[in-house]
Amino acid sequence: MPANFSKSVLLLSLLLGLGQAQAATEPNPTALAASLGIPHPAVIAHRGASFDAPESTAAAYKTARDLGADYLEMDLQRSKDGVLFALHDNKLQRTTDVATKFPERKDSPANAFTLAELKTLDAGSWFNTAYPDRARPAFVGLKILTLDEIIDIAEGNPLHKPGLYIETKEPKQFPGIERDLKDKLQARGWLIPADSKPANSELAVGQGHGKVVLQTFEKSSLELLQKEMPQVPKVLLLWVGEGSIEPESRVSFADSGEQDKAAYYAKQQPKDKAEFQQWIDYAKAQGAIGTGPSAALTQGGDQSYTDLVKPWMNQYTHDQGMLVHVYTVDDAVDYQKVMEAGVDGIFTNRASELLKFYKRPAAASVGQVLQNNGF
Ligand code: G3P
Ligand code: CA
Repeated sequence: MPANFSKSVLLLSLLLGLGQAQAATEPNPTALAASLGIPHPAVIAHRGASFDAPESTAAAYKTARDLGADYLEMDLQRSKDGVLFALHDNKLQRTTDVATKFPERKDSPANAFTLAELKTLDAGSWFNTAYPDRARPAFVGLKILTLDEIIDIAEGNPLHKPGLYIETKEPKQFPGIERDLKDKLQARGWLIPADSKPANSELAVGQGHGKVVLQTFEKSSLELLQKEMPQVPKVLLLWVGEGSIEPESRVSFADSGEQDKAAYYAKQQPKDKAEFQQWIDYAKAQGAIGTGPSAALTQGGDQSYTDLVKPWMNQYTHDQGMLVHVYTVDDAVDYQKVMEAGVDGIFTNRASELLKFYKRPAAASVGQVLQNNGF
């Protein structure tokens, strides 16, 4: 073989080899999600289908499930007598009739109530008052749900089994909640053994390795979740402000001169690139498979925060081998924006709209699904 030819072959192989090495290290969020059993992009029904029905109730979760959402999202708390239940707010006034049923305790935290007391509350009527155009008589009297009851709902449709996306809400109020959660998931058969086979993409999300995703804003809770359930995918939630990413400006909302919080948050940004990156690095080091950053929404509103899904941010997160699930986005214009920026899934109150956007529309309308479930 002529010397020049063999040198050329050597050079070519080296170049090809380098190309392959580069391709091997190129971030591939789709493959990463598949290996974890997490749909890509993921539809995460925020407190259930909470645009269409009272948040965190059976109506919201059954609707999200039957529309075909990948995950039922919930904020986990623990009652005074030790039962895990789902509720976003610390207190009960916004979403229940606690002021009527327990007037002297209306400002007490939800965790100061026993489950029996919580179950006396009407967690549906507030929605009819707040959103008369979406009101339904069957929402009156809906109950706060336990984690057990939400698991029953997730398992309840033979044609579609969503996963659970569980947030430890204000976990410092609930010492040991990570262990309690593990025990419950284990008892209900929702913990896949750490040494079981890799994800099978044929399985429904609620049956595979990604059937549970754990999420928290709290570093200490992430560490405890990792200790208790190392095999379960975990996501560190991010925002700009106290306890999370340090802002560039320390001017408070009150001193900012802004009229609404969304405008204030939209002008916020991380102190610098390194500040953002160190939160991603921390999440990675603690075993998280991704982050859950906030978004600034086109229409503003009370779920519009700082834009933490800028393309460079998502790129950095992907470069670390992690996924990005952004909260909480409801409009097509914003779905488009965050997808173009590179996110891998969206928390939404409007699972039906996001499914349409992803070209996976539900077989039935929201109204039909509600009706089919007796609402
Ligand atoms: O869990 C993601 C998103 O839900 C975080 O915001 O306040 O709605 O729990 P929040
Ligand atoms: Ca949440």
